[in-house]
Amino acid sequence: MRALAVRSFRAPVEMMDLPKPQAGQGEILVHLGAASVNPIDWKLADGAYEGRMPHQFPLVLGVDGAGVVEGVGAGVTRFKVGDGVYGQFFAPPAGRGTYAEFIAASEALGIAPIPRGIYTAQASAVPTAGMTALSAVDALELRKGQSLFVLGAKGGVGSFVTQLASNAGILVSAGSRGDHGTYLRKLGAFEYIDTSRIGFEQDFRYAHPQGVDAVLDLVHPPAEAAVGLAFVRDQGIYASTRMVGTPPVEAPRGIRTLAVNLKPEPALLERLSKEISVGRLRIPVESQRPLAEGAAAIEQNRAGETRGKTVLLI
Ligand SMILES: NC(=O)c1ccc[n+]([C@@H]2O[C@H](COP(=O)([O-])OP(=O)(O)OC[C@H]3O[C@@H](n4cnc5c(N)ncnc54)[C@H](OP(=O)(O)O)[C@@H]3O)[C@@H](O)[C@H]2O)c1
Repeated sequence: MRALAVRSFRAPVEMMDLPKPQAGQGEILVHLGAASVNPIDWKLADGAYEGRMPHQFPLVLGVDGAGVVEGVGAGVTRFKVGDGVYGQFFAPPAGRGTYAEFIAASEALGIAPIPRGIYTAQASAVPTAGMTALSAVDALELRKGQSLFVLGAKGGVGSFVTQLASNAGILVSAGSRGDHGTYLRKLGAFEYIDTSRIGFEQDFRYAHPQGVDAVLDLVHPPAEAAVGLAFVRDQGIYASTRMVGTPPVEAPRGIRTLAVNLKPEPALLERLSKEISVGRLRIPVESQRPLAEGAAAIEQNRAGETRGKTVLLI
């Protein structure tokens, strides 16, 4: 099968011809139609998880995908041949990725039937970013009318969080670098803040003199958490997707810190399926490219240049 993979950490991404996997005990074999790009794809290839989990080489990139079940292993109960499925297919050893024509994965992972009326390409854009966004909104436990400043709002997680939080009546201030106000207001943001504009911090404090109830930081590593902490009110919450496996961030003024760490599971994805089916959640696919352009798509994501989700058509 065709697959985009690396031969070692930090090696160039190559299109390879690899053996087609087979469904083992409790696994499904999925003929993938599309995969979406997530930062974890290039972080894994860079060796960010080296020593923390087993890896196999050639390491096929990609964790999110959607397609049709082509085979089922012994003991599979959730799916049958011919089902359209989407999900996050990431499990150790890292390297059995979705930038490929086929993947075999345990049916117990965060995989679910594709919602009715949704194309395969759209479905592939949901799993990691959507489930992370939903986990973040759950963990924040904000009430209707409370305020949330999302840093990095134009990205995959941010595009889902902006919608899910706004739908729950939370006042979302969406922050990103550049001209993305129209895009994020359409997703439900109450206001847009161009964080690349000189002096935006002062304007933000003028509009929110006490600070916001919570910041969700999708951009800064723990060493730069002070950037986001500055916008949180006393006793508010500073949440981040970038605090996993790192020492806790010291927060001033009684601010509580929250590390958002995705634990993918079918129930989480099924909640998203429901929101999508009833039209409350738009799938923010902003770019579709052939699988062969995967390496370029990854570099664009690494540079922080992509908006919403990028999908690779297989
Ligand atoms: N802990 C978990 O379980 C978990 C789960 C999912 C994701 N994550 C992490 O959460 C973060 C956001 O994920 P995502 O899927 O939303 O990523 P994404 O779509 O790539 O968006 C990330 C945002 O980060 C900023 N950014 C990225 N690269 C940058 C660069 N080189 N220079 C400056 N800013 C840059 C951009 O912010 P602007 O909008 O300001 O331009 C971009 O919109 C990633 O670090 C990802 O690895 C963690």
